[in-house]
Amino acid sequence: MTVTEKAHALIVGCGYVGERLARRLADTFDITAVVRTPTRVGELRTAGINAVGLDLDRVRLGSWIPEKLEQAAIFYLAPPPATGESDLRLDRFLQLATVPPRTFVYISTTGVYGDTEGAPVDEGTPVQPMTDRARRRVSAEEMTRVWCTERRVRRVVLRVPGIYGPGRLPLERLRRREPTLHPDDAGISNRIHVTDLVEACAAAALNPEARGIYNVTDGNSCSSTDFLDRVAALAGLPAPPRVSMDEAQLTFSPERLSFLNESRRVSNDRMLKHLGVRLRYADIDEGIRSSLLQEEDSVPQGRPTSSAGGPDGR
Ligand SMILES: NC(=O)c1ccc[n+]([C@@H]2O[C@H](COP(=O)([O-])OP(=O)(O)OC[C@H]3O[C@@H](n4cnc5c(N)ncnc54)[C@H](OP(=O)(O)O)[C@@H]3O)[C@@H](O)[C@H]2O)c1
Repeated sequence: MTVTEKAHALIVGCGYVGERLARRLADTFDITAVVRTPTRVGELRTAGINAVGLDLDRVRLGSWIPEKLEQAAIFYLAPPPATGESDLRLDRFLQLATVPPRTFVYISTTGVYGDTEGAPVDEGTPVQPMTDRARRRVSAEEMTRVWCTERRVRRVVLRVPGIYGPGRLPLERLRRREPTLHPDDAGISNRIHVTDLVEACAAAALNPEARGIYNVTDGNSCSSTDFLDRVAALAGLPAPPRVSMDEAQLTFSPERLSFLNESRRVSNDRMLKHLGVRLRYADIDEGIRSSLLQEEDSVPQGRPTSSAGGPDGR
């Protein structure tokens, strides 16, 4: 590698978060994005991002992945498959990856902590996954631990709660007047603005001291009802109708209920003090306001729903 060349970084799963991360790190790394569908490859290439199509559910031993010899980082942002207790998608990727990067960054979820009935959790709190979705994340974290230890790779796991941002606000739900839980029944949850999550991903690779697990939240623990009310007020929409938990059990989807049945306050101390992230949107109202403003700019890949359930998935 000559002095003018940038080290390579691979973003596996380049959707809502990954595309923003690719733009954030474009000056630092020579980036290749891995996505599943040809459509997404085309979208990313149009946006000037080098993208390769590879369905990790269909690869075989010996399949090629776009690695380079000087590999600064792998950011693994693809979600686990929708079923099972293990992340076989990640397993396949790890079997194929032959060039150990300096840093492996894995995006997990705060769902691994399960329900603490609103009690605080930090990175030292034992995991207690309550759903298969969370069990797949625990299995994935463990796979990355073993793989990175064996190869002496610096590993960073970011445990992420509901992601919101431009194109990821629950506006459709509010317009449809979908009910939400009565404040007395709604548990505590956490969120992160996508811009701050991207900063956490960048810090994970750029801060040489970063290692281990970090919770990535904006430090505000509030209920999904409170979040929906704030979005409604700032978007000039009516607050959503309320239902009791008993009513919700009969009418909400099992996936939505699985989020609502968990309550915890996730600490972001380690992210602030050790990872060194300076939050741009520690104030939720500011984060929502800025997202609403950018909503009109038709940000690419602003999918209304997300693979792991976002603030609008609750
Ligand atoms: N949304 C939330 O609130 C939340 C909360 C906590 C954690 N997370 C996690 O954060 C990560 C990033 O989220 P995001 O919102 O950026 O996700 P996203 O927009 O859904 O993007 C996921 C990306 O993964 C790729 N992918 C999926 N299956 C694949 C496969 N079999 N082979 C190769 N690529 C595959 C997709 O490619 P195609 O576009 O071509 O299908 C897409 O580029 C995910 O792991 C998500 O589960 C999300």
